Amino acid sequence: MILVTGGAGFIGSNFVLQWLAKGDEPVVNLDKLTYAGNLRNLDSLRGDARHIFVKGDIDDPKLVAQLLREHQPRALVNFAAESHVDRSILGPAEFVRTNIHGSFNLLEAARAYWDGLAGEAKSGFRFLQVSTDEVYGSLAATDAPFRETTAYAPNSPYAASKAAADHMVRAYHHTYGLPTLTTNCSNNYGPFQFPEKLIPLVILNALAGKPIPVYGDGKNVRDWLYVDDHCSGIRRVLEAGRPGEVYNIGGNSEKANIEVVQTLCAVLGELRPAAKPYASLISYVKDRPGHDRRYAIDAGKIRGELGWQPAENFAGGMRKTVEWYLANAEWTRQVSSGEYQQWMNANYEARGAAA
Ligand code: NAD
Ligand code: DAU
Repeated sequence: MILVTGGAGFIGSNFVLQWLAKGDEPVVNLDKLTYAGNLRNLDSLRGDARHIFVKGDIDDPKLVAQLLREHQPRALVNFAAESHVDRSILGPAEFVRTNIHGSFNLLEAARAYWDGLAGEAKSGFRFLQVSTDEVYGSLAATDAPFRETTAYAPNSPYAASKAAADHMVRAYHHTYGLPTLTTNCSNNYGPFQFPEKLIPLVILNALAGKPIPVYGDGKNVRDWLYVDDHCSGIRRVLEAGRPGEVYNIGGNSEKANIEVVQTLCAVLGELRPAAKPYASLISYVKDRPGHDRRYAIDAGKIRGELGWQPAENFAGGMRKTVEWYLANAEWTRQVSSGEYQQWMNANYEARGAAA
């Protein structure tokens, strides 16, 4: 069995669903159910004995130690995090607590557990930290993509908190020999993404006839990866990655934000025609402070060493994503109420955009 943290969030829930679709190894899923965690993502697993959900905090030493003792997992995959850059700018404290201290707590608990293992259980154990390309900082237009050897230069409180955790993971391997793996992935999109992030936010605002906020000049570049591909990359690293190593995961799909937004408007126009073109809702707003200009991933290591490649391309992934949001209006209605409205007001009023 494996222990997954943050498995009720966007990528974590896609991972749990993919894991149990591809095999029968049970998953213990530890998630605090913050605003970003949603058990509805895992509705299809109701009554499935292979999925054990535990509501709790990765920063709770007793709980994590107890779960490791009780379930004896062969791996721990840490997705749990505060994940939104804009939230980290408005309130960084929770990012320090969960992303840094929570990861530290998992490492400490895993170290104690692993110390007590023997034989194959010990040599086979893995601690996989799910990290981000944002730890590498910002690229200029002509810079080479990030490699695993690129120096860390995090620019937002979110990126800095993820970088700090990555350093602790590295140190636990180097100092204590804990068999760690780290993946640094580019921007994900797909089903179950909370609508604070660009792609679902554009889809929902467009459908509601609200302004589509584009930060700055809209020319910041991200490398987009369909979430199922990120999950398959993590499974592959868990299966065959070398302990202590870092693997970059990317979609080979660099796009300027405005291109992403225009693509979404065009796909929506085809699938849900409206009186006015959706693109007429695009509204340029005040930029994100410290906004990284460009991210790009060189995924040569995971491709060469582990034979992993994305299965989905940008056009196909975008269409699937729009189709999913159109087919799951109840999910989006549920997550868009309450806390989400407060967030939209807090983030967008200050930018001069209607929330
Ligand atoms: P998300 O915000 O959608 O989900 C995070 C999950 O973690 C939620 O279910 C939340 O309830 C849970 N959580 C938060 N704090 C917790 C705590 N203290 N204890 C237990 N659970 C807690 O995030 P996501 O987009 O699914 O990202 C998952 C991981 O992947 C994060 O570590 C993120 O840094 C990383 N990542 C994300 C992307 C992306 O594009 N979304 C890209 C690369 C890496
Ligand atoms: O690169 C990986 C990272 O991708 C992950 O580590 C983060 O968890 C994830 O949130 C994502 O970070 P970004 O900041 O790149 O994602 P976001 O969806 O917030 O923004 C994508 C781009 O779109 C970014 O350049 C900012 C811009 N943007 C975002 C929002 C929410 C807008 O122009 N308007 C918006 O309203």
